[in-house]
Order: sequence, then C-alpha cells, then structure tokens
Amino acid sequence: MSPRVIAIDGPAGSGKSTTARAVAERLGLAHLDSGALYRAVTLGVLDAGTPESGDPIVGLARSLPVRLSLVGESFRPEVAGVDVSQAVREPRVNAKVSAIAALPAVRDWVNDELRAAADLHPRGVVADGRDIGTVVFPDAPVKVFLTASPQERAKRRSLQAGSGSAADDLLRVQSDLARRDAADSGRKVAPLVPAADAVVLDTTKMGFEEQVGVIVKLARNAFA
Ligand code: DC
Repeated sequence: MSPRVIAIDGPAGSGKSTTARAVAERLGLAHLDSGALYRAVTLGVLDAGTPESGDPIVGLARSLPVRLSLVGESFRPEVAGVDVSQAVREPRVNAKVSAIAALPAVRDWVNDELRAAADLHPRGVVADGRDIGTVVFPDAPVKVFLTASPQERAKRRSLQAGSGSAADDLLRVQSDLARRDAADSGRKVAPLVPAADAVVLDTTKMGFEEQVGVIVKLARNAFA
C-alpha cells in the first residue's frame, strides 16, 4: 500500500518547508524536511573533514549517526545525538550542500532514511524537497510543485534568515539561490523537475494561507 504522503517539491526559497509544516499541522500529519537531512550530512562532513566522495560520506553518516528523529509532529535533524536544526542553516552548509546532495550514494542513503521515517508516523507525512514526488515517493497521492519568481524567493529567504532587505542583501541572496537552482536542476541524478502528475503552483502573488489552503483541499479530496 502506498504510504499517506503529500509531496511538495520546488526550488530553494519557494516556501516548501514553511508550507509543508503548515499543511502537516492542518491535517495532523508529520512534516518531513528532506533538505534538512542533506544539510545534516553536509554538517557532519564539514566537521569531520571527510573526503567528498559518496561511500565514505554514507559510512560517516551511518556511524555518527546522522538521522531524522521524530519529535512530536516533526522530524528533527540530529548529528551524533545533538539537535542540529539551527546549525544546518549556517552559510557554510548552504555553500556545500548542493555538491554533497549531487552524490548518488548519498542520495540513495537519504532516500532510504526518508522512506523509513515516513513509516514511523501512523497518519503519514508531508514531505518537501526537490525529488520527493519524482523519486522518493513516486506513488504519493498528492504532489505539488511550488514555484515563485526569483525576486520573490530571495525576499522570502531574506525574511526567513532575518537578514536585511537592503537591495544589495537581496541581490546576494538571489545570486546564492540562482547558483543552487542551477546546481540542483542541472545535475544528472534526480534533477529538480516537477513530476508529470504534480500540480504546479506559482505562489508569487499568493498569500501564505491561500497556498496552504489549496494544498489542504487537494489532500482532503485525495484522501476522502
Ligand atoms: O531545501 P533546502 O534548501 O534545505 O535543501 C538543501 C539542499 O539539499 C539543496 O541545495 C538541494 C538538496 N536537496 C536535494 O537535492 N533533494 C532534496 N529532496 C532536498 C534537498
């Protein structure tokens, strides 16, 4: 039986994670942030100075361990038993995570962890990432691909990070997002593309509650 999964994919700064969290809350499901697991692996690599090839990184992730631990209704990234929810947002992680996430062995390991995590929650998950609907949960009954203009995504990311809204701050965030978009979309393995059966939602001009409402409705129809 396919797990009860709502898959939300999209580029950096499209609001996937905040949207997924809100949808999960409204539906009594758990929020599964796949990017947080790639970020936690990256943090482990940065701190351990592991060579950047797939198998040693997976070995490190298993031994530390790097994991997503279910706390209440969400999964918390941990490295060696320590909550790294804040640390995974550091700029040094932003700079490195796309390269680590492009390694096929790392992706296979992360995907297995995500599928195992989804089975832990009795009611199911709202999972967000870049390949959730295409690769990780191809049978998910609800798939949404969130987009927004690059300017709007930079604005949201700056607000989220608490950084300034001055024009040069926004330009810096926008170029960081553009660099990651190019890396995530252009890679050979699991590139960022909407699943054929995903609903593509351009949120540039949408209010947050509105976009959450659209997904909740799709889910209620699918799970009715
Ligand atoms: O969503 P995020 O910014 O936290 O994701 C961090 C990085 O991890 C992003 O640059 C691409 C990668 N990622 C991925 O390749 N596949 C996913 N399902 C989630 C994230």
